[in-house]
Amino acid sequence: MEIIVTDADAIGALVADEVEALLARRPDAVLGLATGSSPLRVYDELATRVRAGRMSFAGARGFTLDEYVGLAPDDPRSYRAVIHDELVSRVDFAPGAVLGPDGGARDLPAACAAFEREIQAAGGIDLQLLGVGTTGHIAFNEPASSFASRTRVKTLTAQTRRDNARFFDGDVAAVPRHCLTQGLGTILESRQAVVIATGAAKAPAVREMVEGAVSARWPCTALQLHPNALVVLDEEAAAGL
Ligand code: GLP
Repeated sequence: MEIIVTDADAIGALVADEVEALLARRPDAVLGLATGSSPLRVYDELATRVRAGRMSFAGARGFTLDEYVGLAPDDPRSYRAVIHDELVSRVDFAPGAVLGPDGGARDLPAACAAFEREIQAAGGIDLQLLGVGTTGHIAFNEPASSFASRTRVKTLTAQTRRDNARFFDGDVAAVPRHCLTQGLGTILESRQAVVIATGAAKAPAVREMVEGAVSARWPCTALQLHPNALVVLDEEAAAGL
């Protein structure tokens, strides 16, 4: 695990450099895309670079990490809509090049299995972007997730629903109770993982992720087993190290 602690304002360009270097090497790279607030500055920077003609996603593919269950297909808070708004609509992916697990499927386990097959068929994920939840989750792998898990249905913790209420006008009751998420086993197979965490609220989870005992109690500790993980932090998130 490589750790970089830097100014929050520098994180967008630093991580965008990783993505740009990968796409320069492999224009048909497969990217793992995270939602949430952590990668937003990266996506802003990538959009700027694409607009400037400096890089292109035209040959690339993308897979999102997770999705709420039960939101309407056109709900702007679904992760499908969020990743479209924050990244896909602002860069030059080919139509249909970015897929997520289908939280509106009638048969959710079948949708999870189909999503895993799509990732495998694409050759696996070259670079997986990740945030960390205050519970230590990565994607929506809440505490007690198996390190061997694949994309599946999970129940969100009360803490995560409170944390994410800010995307639902502060209304915790409006936050879905269930989600689909790539498993820790799926994430560990990515060829490179880049984790972004900023702010003091993330410091306890970051401390466990980097220095804690590897345990399903803190799913982010699974990343200690990843052969190529880069962790990018601001000073506040790194305060417990
Ligand atoms: C969310 C998402 C994760 C995200 C994490 C951190 O609930 N399911 O994919 O990485 O929690 O979120 P944020 O970056 O908004 O702090």
